[in-house]
Amino acid sequence: MKVDVLLGLQWGDEGKGKIVDVLTPKYDIIARFQGGPNAGHTLEFNGIKHVLHTIPSGIFRENTLNIVGNGVVIDPVIFKKEINALAELGVDVKSNLVLSKKAHLILPTHRLLDAASEKAKGKEKIGSTLKGIGPTYMDKTGRNGLRIGDISEVYFLEKYKTLKQKHLSLLAQFEFDTSELDAMEKTWLAAAEELKKLKHIDSEHELNNAMKTGKAVLAEGAQGSLLDIDFGSYPFVTSSNTVCAGACTGLGIAPNRIGEVFGIFKAYCTRVGSGPFPTELFDDDGELMQKEGNEFGATTGRPRRCGWIDLPALKYACMINGVTKLIMMKADVLSCFDNIKVCTHYNYKGEEISHFPYDVAESLVSPIYEELPGWKQDLTGITDLDNLPIQLISYVEFLEKELELPITIISVGPNRSQTIHRDKALA
Ligand code: GDP
Ligand code: IMO
Ligand code: MG
Repeated sequence: MKVDVLLGLQWGDEGKGKIVDVLTPKYDIIARFQGGPNAGHTLEFNGIKHVLHTIPSGIFRENTLNIVGNGVVIDPVIFKKEINALAELGVDVKSNLVLSKKAHLILPTHRLLDAASEKAKGKEKIGSTLKGIGPTYMDKTGRNGLRIGDISEVYFLEKYKTLKQKHLSLLAQFEFDTSELDAMEKTWLAAAEELKKLKHIDSEHELNNAMKTGKAVLAEGAQGSLLDIDFGSYPFVTSSNTVCAGACTGLGIAPNRIGEVFGIFKAYCTRVGSGPFPTELFDDDGELMQKEGNEFGATTGRPRRCGWIDLPALKYACMINGVTKLIMMKADVLSCFDNIKVCTHYNYKGEEISHFPYDVAESLVSPIYEELPGWKQDLTGITDLDNLPIQLISYVEFLEKELELPITIISVGPNRSQTIHRDKALA
């Protein structure tokens, strides 16, 4: 068996959590491969609305193993809170959640360094979620990091203190207030101790053995392709490879073992934090999208910036990821518009282009739109493909033609049940 991958094609928050939960019954294992608690993946079913940050979105389904892979960065404090919130809902994670020994730990001082770096950048700040993601990946690539596998070793505290000291000298250079560190550290060490109760595994072996024995694996991405450290709108990106290749390095899966690549996108586009966004709307339409889509960050609560769908960006994401199947989310949010705009090209330095260029700064790029008729009909109660309005089907077919890929799922609401399948293999 090969590993399927589900990942975001825009700037995150496409609805990955919902669709991983929908698809989980088809898989034996769900594995997160990058990112950390900067992610917020929302699941809704049976009157429950739940946000997961580090734990894979297969956790609510029985008989599914959830793996936090080596490419993920873990904050023990947030992780413990996630486990407690699940326990309140009756989900016991002891048997179906395991951690890679090679996943790196986010220290309290990583969080302080994140805040210090953002403060120092002033107006140029990234708009980080301030979860310590950037500094943790910096220590990983700088070969200074602490990993899950270190927690149970006798040298753990010593190694922790050495890294903390290094961070403190950096924080002193930033002249950053560290008065909260003692309290943060106490909570962190206690939470790290709790992590020992979970199984720490060599997840690359677990996953490759699973494939050999015919088990079905779905790799769950976090963030989105346009936040990728290499291919995103740098420097306004996150610090990991969010694209499909990240599933190989973040789980230990060989490139030729990748099966389907599900690329997920909103019927429009959003972004939270700073950075360029060619189709961003600053008018009533943007406000309406934000309101109808309830576009507020699942991790930070910040309002998400909204705009029309951007095909040059989506085509780029499909190319980099080798997407095989598309999934379109939040079609219901566009029900309020008479007409729907699709950015098909950019005007880039005075020239019409259809590709995603090196720099998509507002001063260089302006979107060129095509307009399609809206459907002006509530979709949230529709369960049958045949009952979808003709204008929505035209919109879907227009996107399929442009992206040269099939749209296999259309989501018409946040609930698990508000999912319309166009591909029998996924239903
Ligand atoms: P993720 O990070 O990709 O998992 O996405 P988030 O959970 O951060 O954001 C997606 C938001 O849209 C959540 O609040 C979901 O409950 C919600 N959502 C998902 N699919 C749909 C949909 O089809 N329609 C509407 N209206 N909301 C949706
Ligand atoms: P999910 O998995 C949307 C954004 C932040 C910021 C930039 C860098 O829920 O789709 P970081 O904390 O990584 O240093 O922030 O990336 N960002 C996200 N935006 N969804 C996410 O995750 C995000 N994770 C990070 O807003 O602009
Ligand atoms: Mg999210």
